[in-house]
Amino acid sequence: MRLGPADASRGPDHVSSGVHAHSHAHESAGAPAVGIIGAGSVGLALGLAISRVGWPVRAVASRDAGRRARFKALIPGASTFIEPVAVLNEVDLAIIAVPDDAIAVVVEPMRLFSGQALVHTSGLLGAEVLQPALGAGSHIGAFHPLISFTSDVERSVRDITGATIAIEGDDSIMGLLAGLAEELGAVAVRLPPGAKPAYHAAAVMASGGLVALLDGIVALGAVAGLDERGSLAVYGRLIEQTLANARAVGVGAALTGPITRGDAGTLAAHLEVLERLAPAVLDLYLAAARRELRIVEERGVLSPEGLARVGAALAKDV
Ligand SMILES: NC(=O)c1ccc[n+]([C@@H]2O[C@H](COP(=O)([O-])OP(=O)(O)OC[C@H]3O[C@@H](n4cnc5c(N)ncnc54)[C@H](OP(=O)(O)O)[C@@H]3O)[C@@H](O)[C@H]2O)c1
Repeated sequence: MRLGPADASRGPDHVSSGVHAHSHAHESAGAPAVGIIGAGSVGLALGLAISRVGWPVRAVASRDAGRRARFKALIPGASTFIEPVAVLNEVDLAIIAVPDDAIAVVVEPMRLFSGQALVHTSGLLGAEVLQPALGAGSHIGAFHPLISFTSDVERSVRDITGATIAIEGDDSIMGLLAGLAEELGAVAVRLPPGAKPAYHAAAVMASGGLVALLDGIVALGAVAGLDERGSLAVYGRLIEQTLANARAVGVGAALTGPITRGDAGTLAAHLEVLERLAPAVLDLYLAAARRELRIVEERGVLSPEGLARVGAALAKDV
C-alpha cells in the first residue's frame, strides 16, 4: 500500500482519525507496511506494539546483531538490515527511532519513493529534519510517544496504551499517524508550531527530573535509615498523594509544608543536616524550595515578613 491523499484531522489539539482502537491477532487488511530504523528502547517497543495491533512490521535496521536478533525473535515477519536506507525498499511507513543527534546523519542518504512516509520519534525536533529524504509525492512527519521507554519492552508496550502521542506532518499523513496512535490505544495530539522544545523540556522534567528528585529523596532516606525500597514505599505514597491533590485542586493549592507556613527555623534545620550528611542533595533541595517560595508568593498566603524570613533562610550559595 502507498499512502493516499489527505485524511483531515479534526482539530488543533486532540487529533482523531475515526479508526477504532482494537487489538488484532492477525494483520489488518490495508494497513501500511511499517519499518523501524534503530532497534533501541523506542524502536523495539514501538515495533512490537504496532505489530500487535495488526499493522505489518516488515523491516528493521540496526547496526547491532544482538538487537537485530531480538527484534526478529519478537517480530518474526520483519526482515533485518544493517543499513537504515535498506528499510525503505520494504515499507510504506518508516519510523526512525535513533538518538536525536543521529537523525540527520541517518536521513542524509535516504530518498523516499512516491507515496512513502518517513517519521521520527524525537520529542524535540520537528519533521523538517527529514526534509532531505523527501521525493515527489512522499511525506514526512513526527510521531512522539510521551512515554519513558526503558529496556523492559513489555512494560513499555503496556505504557503506550493511554499515552499521549504528539504527531506532526503534512495533511496527507496526519490521518495515518492519528490512526496509528488510535490503534495503539493512545491519544494523538498536535502541538502548536514551535512548541516542541518546551513540550519536550517539560517531559524531561516530568520523567528524568522526577528520577533526579527520587534519587535525592532516596539519599536523604538513607540518612534516616531507610533503604531504597523503603524510601520508595514511604515517599512514593506521598508523591502519589501530592499528584492527586494537584489534579484535584491545582498545582499552587497542592503545596503544603514549611515554606507555606513561613517556618524558617525548619528550613534552617533541613539545610544544616543536608550540608552535614547529604551535601550532594543540597542544590536540588534549594532549587525546589526556591520554586516553592515563588508559589507561596503568588498565592499571597504569607506576610511580607514571613516571605523575607524564608527568603533569607534559602539565600545560600551552593
Ligand atoms: N527513551 C525514551 O523514553 C523516548 C521516549 C520518546 C521518544 N524518544 C525518542 O526516540 C528516539 C530513540 O530513542 P531511544 O531511547 O530508543 O534511543 P536509544 O535506545 O539510545 O537508541 C536507539 C537506536 O539508535 C541507533 N543509533 C544510535 N546512534 C546511531 C547512529 N549514529 N546511526 C544510526 N543509528 C544509531 C542504535 O541502533 P543500532 O545500534 O541498533 O543500530 C540504537 O539502538 C530519540 O529520538 C528519542 O528522543 C525516546
